Amino acid sequence: AVRPVAIVSAMAEELAALLAEARDVTVQTHAGRRFHVGTLHGAPVVLVLCGIGKVAAALTTTLLAERYAPQSLVFTGVAGGLGDGVRVGDVVVAEALLQHDMDASPLFPRFEVPLTGRSRFGADAALTAALAEAATAVLGTPGHCGPDAQALGVTAPALHRGLVISGDRFVSAAAECGALRQALPEALAVEMEGAALAQVCHDLGLPFAVLRTISDRADDSAHVDFLRFIDAVAAHASAAIVGHWLRDG
Ligand code: ADE
Repeated sequence: AVRPVAIVSAMAEELAALLAEARDVTVQTHAGRRFHVGTLHGAPVVLVLCGIGKVAAALTTTLLAERYAPQSLVFTGVAGGLGDGVRVGDVVVAEALLQHDMDASPLFPRFEVPLTGRSRFGADAALTAALAEAATAVLGTPGHCGPDAQALGVTAPALHRGLVISGDRFVSAAAECGALRQALPEALAVEMEGAALAQVCHDLGLPFAVLRTISDRADDSAHVDFLRFIDAVAAHASAAIVGHWLRDG
């Protein structure tokens, strides 16, 4: 049998559009999470909501690996934009991920996961390239973000590839955002799950990719922008790209 692709999101709004398109679905519950086993555009998939934060992401990734032996794992959701020119509506595909709240200094360098010798965990190059290609195709399609995107100022969204950082904090203050930008100038976006999933996938030898649509700029108005975006746009953006990748990629 073909091993499934695992698709993970933190919030219901992010997974809703993909779940609606899934076929032949059966639901299995482990650790309070509903694992939707079925097909999406003909491909075997497991879709699951992991919950918010690094622990939730790590647990869900482990359960997926142990119980479903997926061929690969794709995380799709939203993130706060950090890098210059990373704007609301843009898409970021992670090349590597780092936990920005990991700090065992002075015993280990800031951000390094103690005793692993690393702070950055690389996403699978082929999977990342395929998702970036799908994102390029979808971003070029007018209206891909749904009918409400224009009202949020999303006009010509761009694709970025690079470092995504994760921590158990919703970043919603210009000062905190500024400190992250200073400490990690190459970081494109901040979210709360990707680097945890990356560390688990690295240890398990499981290929993975992380795709994020920018919902806010992680500044003083992040919470307002985030809630508006989650309602209006999030589902359309991620689902369209992952759907395109499964169909044509
Ligand atoms: N996900 C979306 N926006 C975010 C932010 N500002 N901080 C952390 N996670 C996010």
